[in-house]
Amino acid sequence: MKTNMKAWKRDHWCGELRTDHIGQNVRINGWVHRNRDMGGLIFMDVRDRTGLVQVFFGPDTDAQTMETAASLRPEYCAAIEGTVQRRQPGAENPKLATGEIEIIARSVQLLNASRTPPFPINEEDTEVDEQLRLKYRYLDLRRPTMYRRMELRHRAIKMIRDYLSERGFLEIETPILIKSTPEGARDFLVPSRLFPGRFYALPQSPQQMKQLLMVAGIERYFQIAKCFRDEDPRADRQPEFTQLDLEMSFVEQDDVLSLIEPLWTEIVETLSPMRVTTKPWPRLTYQEAMRRFGTDKPDMRFGLELTDLTELFRNTGFNAFRQAIEAGATAQAVCLPDCAGLSRKEIDELTELVKRFGAKGLATFGFAGEEVRSPVAKFLTPEEIAGIRERCAANDGDLVAMVVDQPRVALECMGRLRLEMGRRLNLADPNVMAFAWIVDFPLFHWDEEAQRWQSEHHPFTAPNDEDAPLLESDPANVRGQCYDMVGNGNELASGSIRIHRPDVQNKVFKILGYAQSEIKERFGHLLEAFEFGAPPHGGIAPGIDRLIMLLANDDSIRNVIAFPKNAAMADVMFGAPDAVTEEQLNELRLTVRE
Ligand code: AMO
Ligand code: AMP
Repeated sequence: MKTNMKAWKRDHWCGELRTDHIGQNVRINGWVHRNRDMGGLIFMDVRDRTGLVQVFFGPDTDAQTMETAASLRPEYCAAIEGTVQRRQPGAENPKLATGEIEIIARSVQLLNASRTPPFPINEEDTEVDEQLRLKYRYLDLRRPTMYRRMELRHRAIKMIRDYLSERGFLEIETPILIKSTPEGARDFLVPSRLFPGRFYALPQSPQQMKQLLMVAGIERYFQIAKCFRDEDPRADRQPEFTQLDLEMSFVEQDDVLSLIEPLWTEIVETLSPMRVTTKPWPRLTYQEAMRRFGTDKPDMRFGLELTDLTELFRNTGFNAFRQAIEAGATAQAVCLPDCAGLSRKEIDELTELVKRFGAKGLATFGFAGEEVRSPVAKFLTPEEIAGIRERCAANDGDLVAMVVDQPRVALECMGRLRLEMGRRLNLADPNVMAFAWIVDFPLFHWDEEAQRWQSEHHPFTAPNDEDAPLLESDPANVRGQCYDMVGNGNELASGSIRIHRPDVQNKVFKILGYAQSEIKERFGHLLEAFEFGAPPHGGIAPGIDRLIMLLANDDSIRNVIAFPKNAAMADVMFGAPDAVTEEQLNELRLTVRE
């Protein structure tokens, strides 16, 4: 017999009591959700993480218990013992899983009182200021919706661990105090006490470590890994976030994609009400994604694809368009069904939208019977107007919207306009998840500002075999063996087949503008490792937070992280970042400049 068992310990969960328990004596633990004292009759809802149950204190309750029960206020922590009974006819609550029964209390024990919470925890629908929620995150997490999000996250991660373990993957932890890894963001630095003036960097991802694990012969690695990037936060970004980080040896692109595709499909279909409509997932080249959707992370739940009208206007008499096209612009159009009647104001809003992304203007063509409504019709020939209608397959009542600009601007603008109109026209089914792979990204892009080549993905990505001979002569046209997973317009993962030969890696570092001494200093460990029979290898890293955000049908990544930073990157609960003592600074031999 257990002698140290506390008398208040639960033997049942609140939310699991049913008519099967009628007549049983039960003990529950939890928080007072609501307490209604009707004078001699007390109806108390008690909540634990499984849900609510009603507890009744009435004529048969002794005076002492009655007094304690009456004193309990919301969020008091309590233990209750009593008998499960069927509720009086008419008193059932069909909205509650426990709505057919109640507990007739015999005793109640106050385990801890509570201050009045800064926001109601028992009224789920109340809008609460996010700062307040984050300051009292432990109370926010008590709310059932937040509990469900945490549970969802746990279940997704468990599915990932089970799936990969069954396939021979080892979960290996990699260090948090490392040397800077280039993933395109700023590093968080940690000063070293033992090596004054030197710094560790927090990993932007375990990228180099997982590649070294492949050199080490691990062959199949994964980790639920924390990544740290000193970036400006956005709704779908945190400075500290979680990836499923994964790497495999002796594989090609297809091996990685066909490992992850069924897992992500299953996670979505098991853990959310969404159906995956893309089976198998379509694979679009980067070029195709840009051409059809104006973005490399298309929302493929709906059409509204882009049409290229550049050729139609190459020799047009309308100077604005012809001259722009002569200078390298393209004409990108989207046909918006039944939108010929959009108001002046609505069209102005769309114009503002494209201008925000750099366009000089938006040309619109509303097709209504024989008539075309357009501010630029007077500059164009009837053949050109007919050409627009035909190439965009515009029906009577449709509106064609078009931007003529440099390809990057025109595509981005029309991609944004497509998304906005998809939203306004309710074209994206919230119960659908449309996954896709985007492949064949360029290996590099030219950074105008820095006047140098940058990696599109990261510097460890292998060039496409066919394009490898162009590495030095024509970097712009080298495709990389990298891939992104996109779902409903979000970038959910990215990965690549890596370079495993030191000579190729060296060449890529040189194209990226690293001096030989810098290559040795920053990446010497990796290049050296490649000299010891490094196997061909590749991997991927899906973002966990973004996945859970989609599963939870949420629009903020902060809602699916237990203790996130706020939108300004601060931790408002702990009050971090914060000043440190003079003593700590001295130990690190640091001084803070005013
Ligand atoms: P990458 O930098 O593209 O690749 O990141 C992979 C995925 O991580 C998620 N992600 C983020 N989630 C939340 N907040 C952020 N600040 C954030 N940044 C990225 C996204 C993204 O698709 N080492 C490579 C992967 C590899 O090559 O294997 C890497 O980290 O979902
Ligand atoms: P403007 O002659 O500049 O007043 O332009 C006449 C019309 O052409 C306006 O409706 C503009 O929105 C449209 N327009 C001008 N420049 C562009 C462009 N680069 N792309 C699309 N439409 C444009």
